[in-house]
Amino acid sequence: MAFDSPDVQNYARGLEGVIAAISAISAIDGQEGKLVYRGIDIESLAEHSTFEETTYLLMFGDLPTRDELANFTMDLKEKRDVPHEIIDILEKLPHDAHPMDILKTAISALGTFDPDKDSDTRGSRIRKAIRIIAQVPTIVAYTHRISEGLEIIPPSKKFSHAKNFLYMVSGEEPNERDAKIFDIALILHADHGLNASTFSSLVTISTLSDIYSAITSAVGTLKGPLHGGANERVLDMLAEIGTPDNVENYIKEAVEKKKKIMGFGHRVYRAYDPRARILRKYAEMLATERNERSCCEMANRIEAVMKELFEEKGIFPNVDFYSGVVYRWFGIPKRLFTPVFAIGRVSGWVSHVLEYLQANRIFRPRAIYNGPIDVEYIPIEERS
Ligand code: SDX
Repeated sequence: MAFDSPDVQNYARGLEGVIAAISAISAIDGQEGKLVYRGIDIESLAEHSTFEETTYLLMFGDLPTRDELANFTMDLKEKRDVPHEIIDILEKLPHDAHPMDILKTAISALGTFDPDKDSDTRGSRIRKAIRIIAQVPTIVAYTHRISEGLEIIPPSKKFSHAKNFLYMVSGEEPNERDAKIFDIALILHADHGLNASTFSSLVTISTLSDIYSAITSAVGTLKGPLHGGANERVLDMLAEIGTPDNVENYIKEAVEKKKKIMGFGHRVYRAYDPRARILRKYAEMLATERNERSCCEMANRIEAVMKELFEEKGIFPNVDFYSGVVYRWFGIPKRLFTPVFAIGRVSGWVSHVLEYLQANRIFRPRAIYNGPIDVEYIPIEERS
């Protein structure tokens, strides 16, 4: 019997171009640079929606009625507190650990306290999903306060999801305009088709494991600099470049060394990422208001140099290029940029998990074996 030897032409490195699911949650037009959530384009949602409303849309398929939105929003507010045991864990973990490692650990631990942990009905899955969405911002904000040796700020039921996070990080009530821009950033990050972290959540849930395990997998995947970790590295790059005049040399040297420029390129987009376009608008506005434009000038120069080098290859700015430039105006420290990505994306992760379970099939791809065959076992005495 021939060993598992699939045809090499079926091999797609990194699953590039492979269709692994059917989903009605979001769609990307990579050529035109468009993104829709349940058919509604991202520009309309950024302009008119809220993160709570967009989360409801992603999870349940339709925009909520006024009452549905009010109940859903209240449900999220009610579930923002984390068990005190989780706070104990956060306090005991190394305070210099990366916040994504702490978030991954905390979500995994949260699952052991969930009152529905032994139930796997659709209703219990939805309740668990809502608890996770509600508690992720609390965990991220507590992680920050504890690592800085500050008192944790419990969540406030007075504020929206976005405003409450900024409040828990700073301890001050953010102004409405900043809270609105941050809410838009969360909407932009909420879902994006079968990206790596969403796919990893589906691989986990496809074995009929639990939603906490699936989201733990997703957080671990999002951490990587090729995925959600790029936003933090964009700020590192801007700091390394220092001034707009250094941009051209820095980028050309990096490209010569075959380094990836963080915040650029995408497996699907061969056009400007529509989310980056929206974030760029706010980055420019905030920089102009605060009369501190060097960051944006560097970003614009980087775009110009990358356009000259890579437009032909379809490499454009992606969502990570401007997100950190916006976040830092809200006092969010760089180490929280990727956890903030998770605060938005957790709505997409749970939505895909709930959807996939309605027609579940375990993921089990194959590999082309390129190792030896018919190798004899040599007893250890005879090995040199
Ligand atoms: C996100 O999938 C999603 O939807 C992700 C995301 C989401 O919302 O979930 O949109 C969020 O992850 C955005 C991407 C954030 N990551 C970065 O900004 C890191 C830098 N980008 C690259 O690592 C890269 O563009 C990826 C990982 C995003 C995409 O990688 P691919 O599709 O595997 O492309 P590739 O690495 O095979 O590159 C193809 C070519 C290569 O050149 P050649 O070997 O063919 O000569 O393009 C070059 C690459 O070197 N290239 C880059 C580049 N991105 C691709 N060269 C320089 N800088 C870059 N950023």
